[in-house]
Amino acid sequence: MKDVEFIRLSKENINIISNVVRIDNEELSKQDIEKFIIDDDNYCFVGILEDKIVAFLYSYGMLRPDGKSMFYIHSIDVLQDYQNNGIGTKLMEYVLNYVKNENKYYKFFVLAENDNIRACKVYQKFANKEEQVIFSRYLKGV
Ligand SMILES: CC(C)(COP(=O)(O)OP(=O)(O)OC[C@H]1O[C@@H](n2cnc3c(N)ncnc32)[C@H](O)[C@@H]1OP(=O)(O)O)[C@@H](O)C(=O)NCCC(=O)NCCS
Repeated sequence: MKDVEFIRLSKENINIISNVVRIDNEELSKQDIEKFIIDDDNYCFVGILEDKIVAFLYSYGMLRPDGKSMFYIHSIDVLQDYQNNGIGTKLMEYVLNYVKNENKYYKFFVLAENDNIRACKVYQKFANKEEQVIFSRYLKGV
């Protein structure tokens, strides 16, 4: 497989994506992405292989009152046919290097279901601590 190119989406390069980014369960319109990335602390990254988007990640910088901001990776997806080829690992590597160079955040975190073995396997490569148990409730809709 050829090398995947990873790019952070910005208003300057947004035209590299078509009207909708559809990666399995994730579907986002170009307009939604444009709105999302206006905030410099919101991030979208794509992985491109032979002009096709095969991986997508979005994340946020979260400001704490003490100024120690955290980087939260909310969603990472690799197209089904391309999974298990090292693309998710390389995307995480690219993103974490990117934000390390920005020097804005003191910690990153990402959540995964215990039974999502592949995701856990990838995240374990980059984390040095496993913290579990999350309590949540929808505040809108549902
Ligand atoms: C999770 C995801 C992003 C990982 O990306 P990927 O490109 O498939 O992952 P990689 O190929 O980089 O790495 C997968 C690792 O899991 C391992 N693995 C895969 N299946 C496994 C299994 N059944 N048991 C143990 N290890 C397994 C692989 O060996 C590899 O580890 P290695 O690099 O040490 O060999 C991708 O699979 C995906 O999009 N899944 C669906 C969406 C999803 O679950 N997103 C995460 C939500 S938290």
